[in-house]
Amino acid sequence: MIAKPRTGPVPVESGRTPGERAHQFRGSLGRFATGVAIVTFDGVTKRHGITVNSFTSVSMEPPLVLVSIARTAKAHDELAGRPFTVNILGAEQRHLAMHFAGRPGPEPLWVEGGTAPRLSHVLAYFECKPWAAYDGGDHTLYVGEVVDFNYRSGDALAYANSTFTTIPESQLGMEDLL
Ligand SMILES: Cc1cc2nc3c(=O)[nH]c(=O)nc-3n(C[C@H](O)[C@H](O)[C@H](O)COP(=O)(O)O)c2cc1C
Repeated sequence: MIAKPRTGPVPVESGRTPGERAHQFRGSLGRFATGVAIVTFDGVTKRHGITVNSFTSVSMEPPLVLVSIARTAKAHDELAGRPFTVNILGAEQRHLAMHFAGRPGPEPLWVEGGTAPRLSHVLAYFECKPWAAYDGGDHTLYVGEVVDFNYRSGDALAYANSTFTTIPESQLGMEDLL
């Protein structure tokens, strides 16, 4: 049989166009439910904050955590080699997630941390010294060594499928099992 000449977008190996593939890659990643955090630090001339859901714990000893920051983000270059805080948001702090994701609202309350600035009344925080930075394609993986941390009680802010949701405190708290 003679193959018909191909018209329109070139399908990729699974029958998806590059555009469909990118869309479905994002959609697949979005099925991984996460918390929501804000990375804060003092840059050369100003204080930065960027909303992330790429926060991951890495190591207990030494205590290391990781965030993945897009190379296109304004904060990307200045974060290299600087102390930073990962602020974990509570359920009522959705506005902070939006504020530091390009939808500014009223200026939030800041706390002068011992190592890096942080946001007031977050659910948990990790103040970090810079440990390493790794190439992550169009992102950079910034690993920090945790030098101070704490948490409070409260419901958690979560993010899944491009939507904010909350996890009640009653469903948190596995500490007795770990
Ligand atoms: C819930 C949520 C999670 C995000 N996670 C990340 C992330 O892990 N890494 C990242 O680089 N940007 C992430 N972003 C996008 C950045 O927050 C956003 O692009 C950034 O604030 C834009 O900053 P700029 O305009 O100052 O460059 C996320 C945004 C939202 C709303």
